[in-house]
Amino acid sequence: MLNSYAMEAPSSYLFSEIARKVAAFSEKHGGDGPRIIRMGIGDVTRPLPRACVDAMKSAADEQLSAATLRGYPPDGGYDFLRKAISEHEYKRRGADIPPEDIFISDGAKSDSANIQELFGNDCVVGVSDPVYPVYADSNAWSGRLGHYADGRWERLVTFPCTRENGYVAPPPDGHVDLIYLCFPNNPTGAAASRAQLRAWVDYANEHGSIIIYDAAYRAYISDPDIPRSIYEIDGAKTCAIEICSFSKTAGFTGVRCSWTVAPEELRRGGVSLRALWARRQATKFNGTPYIVQRGAEAVYSPAGQSQCAETISVYMRNARRILDALRGAGIEATGGVNAPYVWMRCPDNMDSWGFFDYLLKEARVVGTPGSGFGKCGEGYFRLTAFGSPEDTDEAMHRVGALSRKI
Ligand code: MLT
Repeated sequence: MLNSYAMEAPSSYLFSEIARKVAAFSEKHGGDGPRIIRMGIGDVTRPLPRACVDAMKSAADEQLSAATLRGYPPDGGYDFLRKAISEHEYKRRGADIPPEDIFISDGAKSDSANIQELFGNDCVVGVSDPVYPVYADSNAWSGRLGHYADGRWERLVTFPCTRENGYVAPPPDGHVDLIYLCFPNNPTGAAASRAQLRAWVDYANEHGSIIIYDAAYRAYISDPDIPRSIYEIDGAKTCAIEICSFSKTAGFTGVRCSWTVAPEELRRGGVSLRALWARRQATKFNGTPYIVQRGAEAVYSPAGQSQCAETISVYMRNARRILDALRGAGIEATGGVNAPYVWMRCPDNMDSWGFFDYLLKEARVVGTPGSGFGKCGEGYFRLTAFGSPEDTDEAMHRVGALSRKI
């Protein structure tokens, strides 16, 4: 009666497991020692951009009058937001993505988990390793990855991202139908170059594969030569779906707003994936609230743009601080330049969860064990730059003091 694949999966989602462990630790030791600093889940700490809040307030006021009340949002989202995204995120960067290809949603997490519903259960799925765990977990629940044995799904193909390849894997030799890529990468912070993305787009077009491209961290790219969207690569429209979010750009982790691009040109066996995704969303999703979509639209106002940029620069200064502190302590660390995550090697050959426990106990700092993102993440650890500058400084001070003891 129950979904046996769901029951085979590890019983707890990565960030739920971290929250559970931290709660248990606080309950036991809450009163003694310094307070806990959280650098685990990538949740934002800076206030929302004023432009977004003002837009949401005035949209809320519209709901007081029958003449301006908004009920169910249109399928796919309001035109004002689809047009703003098309213009600012794509056309200005040379990618011709029209508003009709853009579908507004409530989060990159839900869209990246739901998109697999468009594909048959015989699809071969490939994910980078390490990567955001939702891609594999959601496919596993559908039964597409077979059974779980010896810590892995039997039908899942992984693309190892290692120190040797700069944490950006090349396309595989064999055939994969459905490819999940996330750049800038969660968790390693690696960003894919134009040539690296071109190799994936060429592979996908040659093999008839589909790339699900998660670009949730694109606003953190500081290098002008690195593409922010896969559609900056010629040929991507016939092989890629892109998922993006306002969570990390504008601090919307609580407000919830995102979008998915399914280009008109993307077809398999004569069937339009855009039409299929539209049908799926119309059936299962009643839309992102009008008030929220007005808030997201304000991200693209001049004030919204400069307020988002200011927030991102605060987080990126944190990332620099983390990188400098770790390297200064002799710890191998990467990421943190085009992404808000720093990926570090666990000191003293500790394993990822061992280091999690050690850091929590000795420094009262919470991070994310690398092994939670895949086998290649074992022995690594992720720290987020989304904390306050004060907390980041304090955490790095504690880590520095600790490293002198290791
Ligand atoms: C993370 O920490 O990996 C992300 O914040 C999780 C998410 O976006 O769902």
